[in-house]
Amino acid sequence: MQTNVNILFIGDVVGRYGRRILRNEIDSIKREFDIDFTVINAENAADGFGINKKVYDDIEKCGDVLTLGNHTWDKKEFLKDVDSMPKIIRPINFSKKAPGLGYRIVPINGFEIAVINAIGRVFMMPVDNPFYEVEELLEDEIPDDIKIKIVDFHAEATSEKQAFGWYFDGRVSAVLGTHTHVQTADERVLPNGTAYITDVGMTGCHDGVLGFNKDEALSRFLTYIPKRLKVCKSNLRINGCIITVNSKSGKALNIQRINRSVNLN
Ligand SMILES: [Fe+2]
Ligand SMILES: [Fe+2]
Repeated sequence: MQTNVNILFIGDVVGRYGRRILRNEIDSIKREFDIDFTVINAENAADGFGINKKVYDDIEKCGDVLTLGNHTWDKKEFLKDVDSMPKIIRPINFSKKAPGLGYRIVPINGFEIAVINAIGRVFMMPVDNPFYEVEELLEDEIPDDIKIKIVDFHAEATSEKQAFGWYFDGRVSAVLGTHTHVQTADERVLPNGTAYITDVGMTGCHDGVLGFNKDEALSRFLTYIPKRLKVCKSNLRINGCIITVNSKSGKALNIQRINRSVNLN
C-alpha cells in the first residue's frame, strides 16, 4: 500500500468553457503531480447553473467524485437523473427527504477515500447545521479504518469556512472551500493535520463576474432587474489545489494551489 496519496481538487467548473478547460488540462496536471485521486466541484457545469446527465457524461471521466452546492437543483432533470450519476454527491446537510447522497466512499489502490460535500448557512439557504451533520457522519457512518476524508465545504462566509476548518482539524484530511469562485491565498495544513483553504477558486472565464459576462452581472447590480447570466469566455483559468495525505494516518502533509492560465486554441 502506498504511503502518500496525492489528491487533486478542482474548483467550480463553470459552463462549457469550464468543461473544455477541464478536459484539456486534467491529464497533464494528473501526470505532472502524480495524482492518485481527483474531486471536481461541478455545481456550475451546465450553463453555469447545476448539472444534468449530458454534462455529467461530458466530464465524469475527469474525476473520481463530483461535488455540488447551492446550484444542485437548478436543472429540473437532475431530480430524475441523479441515481444515474454514480460519482455525484450533493451537500449532506440538505433535507433528509431530498434525493442524492452527501458522501461517497471510493476504493483506490487497496484502500478507500471518503469524500463529503457540505454547505454553509451564513448568507445562504436554510439547511441543517453542517458542523453537526458532518460530525454525525464521521462518528456514526464512516468506518474508522477509512483514514482519508476530504470535505468540500461550499459556503459564502469566510468566517464560517475558517470555523469549519478549525472544528474538524485532525478529524478529516482536508476542508476545501468552494462557492465564492475567487481563490484565496490562505492554504495551510492546520496544527492537527487537516489541509485547509477558504476557497479553491473557479475553473472558467476570469474576465467576468464569477465566470459570467460582466455586462449582465453589472446590470443586475445597477438596476436590480433580474437578467439571465451567460458564461463568458476570456482569461480562461483552471483553479484548484493538490493535497498530499499520509494514507496510514489520514493526516495532510502538504497543500498547494493551482491557478493556471489555459489557452484552448
Ligand atoms: Fe459555484
Ligand atoms: Fe455555489
